Amino acid sequence: MNNNWKKEALNFIIEKTEVNNRKIGVNFPHASHDGKYKLENEQWWTAGFWPGLLWKVYSQTNDDSLKITAEQCEEKMDRLLTNTECIDHDMGFMWTLTSLANYKLTGNKESRRRALLAANLLSARFNTEGNYIRAWNAWIGRKDNSGVAIIDCLMNLPLLYWASEETGDPRFKHIAKRHVNMVLEHFIREDGSVQHMVVFDSETGEVVEKLGGQGFAPNSAWARGCAWAVYGLTLSYKYTKDIKILNAAKKTAHYFISNLQDNKCPVWDFRVPEDGEKKYRYPDSSAGAIAACGLLLLSKYAGEFEDYIYKNAGEEILKALYIECSSKDNEKEEGLIMNGTGHFPEQTNLDVPLIYGDYYFVEGISILNGDELLFW
Ligand code: GLY
Repeated sequence: MNNNWKKEALNFIIEKTEVNNRKIGVNFPHASHDGKYKLENEQWWTAGFWPGLLWKVYSQTNDDSLKITAEQCEEKMDRLLTNTECIDHDMGFMWTLTSLANYKLTGNKESRRRALLAANLLSARFNTEGNYIRAWNAWIGRKDNSGVAIIDCLMNLPLLYWASEETGDPRFKHIAKRHVNMVLEHFIREDGSVQHMVVFDSETGEVVEKLGGQGFAPNSAWARGCAWAVYGLTLSYKYTKDIKILNAAKKTAHYFISNLQDNKCPVWDFRVPEDGEKKYRYPDSSAGAIAACGLLLLSKYAGEFEDYIYKNAGEEILKALYIECSSKDNEKEEGLIMNGTGHFPEQTNLDVPLIYGDYYFVEGISILNGDELLFW
C-alpha cells in the first residue's frame, strides 16, 4: 500500500464522524460496547475528547454542525468551572480540547476566558514543597490524595504554557517547568519506561512511595503512561526548549518503539507476563495513537538522521491502527479504532474503542494529511 492510505484514513474519519455527530450529539462518550459509545457525565476526565475530535474534523471540513456540537459540549461543562471540588488535574485535557481549541480556531473570546480560568485553577493545584501538580481530589480510592502525582499530567501542562504566552505572565510556565523537572527526577526510569503514580508527603514534599496505578505492578511499564510521557515531554520541550527534556522524550520514545510488537499495536503494559493466552495480554490501541502523535512531533525536534526514526515509527503505528484496528469495515461501530484497554486493574473497558484513542488517531491522521494546528 502506498501513501494513499493516509487520505483514505482521513476520509473514513470524516464520514464516520459526520454520522457519529448525529448519533452522539451533545454528550460525553467514553468507551464503546457492542458498537455504541457509553456516555459519561461532563465531569469525567474524558469529557474533552469528543468535542476535541469534532474540532479537529471541523478544521478540515468547515462543517458547521460539528462546530455547533463542540460549542454546546463546551457550554455544558461550564458548571464545573465554578465547582473546584468537581474537577482535578485533568482540566488540562478537558479545556485544552474544548475552549482552547475553540479559541485557536475561531478566536472566541468567551472560550479564551474559560481556558484562562481553567489554567488558573490548574496552577492552584501546584504543591510548592514537592514541585508537583496534585492529581486527583479525595474521591479516587484513597482518603487523602493531596500527595498524588501521575504521569498523565504532562498532557495538562500545555494549557499552562499557553496561558503564559497569552497573558505575558510567566507564573503558569514556571509551574509547568517545575512539574516537568519533578517528572524527570521521579517518574522516568533509566531504561525509558515510566512510573504511573508517585505519592509525596504533601507537607514536606518527600517521596513516600511509587505505585503501579493503572499499570500491572509498581515496577511494570503501563503502555499508556509511557505514551503520555513520549507526547507530554515532547510538548514541554516545544515550549521550554530545554535540552534535558528533549533527551528524556527521546529516551521514553526509544523504550516505546522497541517494545512494540510486530503488529505495532502495543500491549497495555509492556511488562505483563507472557502467559500465552489472553488473560493479561490485552492490546491498547489508545497508547499507540497517543505515542504516534508524540513521535510525529518529536521528529520535528530531533536532529538530522534521528528525525526519520520517530517520523517513521509514528506513521507505522497510525497505519497499523488504520489497517488492522479501525472500524472501517464495520459501519455500525461508533468507535474509530478498536482494541483499547481502559483500566486493566479494575477490569473495565478491555479491548474496546476508547474516545481518547479515537481522538489521538484523528489528530495523528490529520497531521499526516497536513494539519499543522496543535491544540496542545
Ligand atoms: N488519564 C487516565 C488514563 O490514561 O487512563
